[in-house]
Amino acid sequence: MKKVMSGIQPSGSLTLGNYIGALKNFVKLQDDHQCFFMVVDMHAITVAQDPAALREQSEAVAALFIAAGIDPVRSNVYMQSHVPQHAELGWIMTTLTAMGELERMTQFKDKSSGKDSVGAGLFVYPSLMAADILVYNADLVPVGEDQKQHLELTRDLAGRFNNRFGEFFTIPEPYIPEVGARIMSLDDGTKKMSKSSPNAGSYIALLDSPDVIRKKISRATTDSGREVIFDPANKPEISNLMSIYSECSGMSLQQIADRYEGQMYGGFKKDLGEVVVSTLEPLQQRYHEIRSSGAITDILAEGAERARIVAAETLNGVKERMGFLPAR
Ligand code: AMP
Ligand code: TRP
Repeated sequence: MKKVMSGIQPSGSLTLGNYIGALKNFVKLQDDHQCFFMVVDMHAITVAQDPAALREQSEAVAALFIAAGIDPVRSNVYMQSHVPQHAELGWIMTTLTAMGELERMTQFKDKSSGKDSVGAGLFVYPSLMAADILVYNADLVPVGEDQKQHLELTRDLAGRFNNRFGEFFTIPEPYIPEVGARIMSLDDGTKKMSKSSPNAGSYIALLDSPDVIRKKISRATTDSGREVIFDPANKPEISNLMSIYSECSGMSLQQIADRYEGQMYGGFKKDLGEVVVSTLEPLQQRYHEIRSSGAITDILAEGAERARIVAAETLNGVKERMGFLPAR
């Protein structure tokens, strides 16, 4: 069975962008793959985190994985920091990565621009991400568009290791959805919807109440035209709302355009509010059930235990090939 691996940072409330770009595909892939879905707390600390908030968010993200439909019996759901092999292989990957490669990463450029002091962890972040993926020899990595460059680096590092030390790592493929790989902000169709935005109106959090969701969608920026047509270059905001509609309803973009032909934006947005609410309401209900059941601790423990077995075996192989003296 092919292996799937992905991670989401516990650094704020997950958004509809995370759901459509990543989580929804995790659920889809679990039927016919061996899956490793991780809450990447070690990546989150590359920018300062409040300890209490980190703890709360970590458990919340794990619960959202389950609420979205990941089955913790078939798939492994766990914390990155509970599998120490990530950090260890991460260090090794750092030694194989060139400074120039890291300097070219757009996420690093975005997150570091304008800051007086930038943590070294933020810089080497992609090497740790490569380790996350390679430590399971994952075949497929479901992510949103913004992670494509990190995936390319991961592939390069796997190839570099294989060239220097002999065929060992699987070269992973990205799995990026055609529609919804980049859900844009509700107040600006040229910016990615992001949980770190200071304007809460720019994103839909997975745990926003139905009324808040309806309100945010009704206030979403749109152009001054009237037609509900998919044209990302000229109508980025309407096109983004159509992508959300399509991903939450299962209707194609064309079907949506046909349904709203000749109508104004108001009716379309009103319906979209209901489409999103009916996608998120059942998820929220499951989320609250899981949180109050206290089941997350056990789920994470079991996931980490299974993940460690696979990761330890890979790491041993890496060390042996690189010439580390075996530990007794
Ligand atoms: P992060 O929140 O940065 O840990 O991202 C977790 C996953 O969600 C990654 O696969 C991202 O590519 C994906 N993602 C985050 N924001 C968006 C967005 N606005 N649209 C689509 N995918 C996204
Ligand atoms: N860098 C990813 C993000 O910000 C999160 C991540 C960390 C990840 N490790 C990973 C994604 C491994 C896929 C596979 O979204």
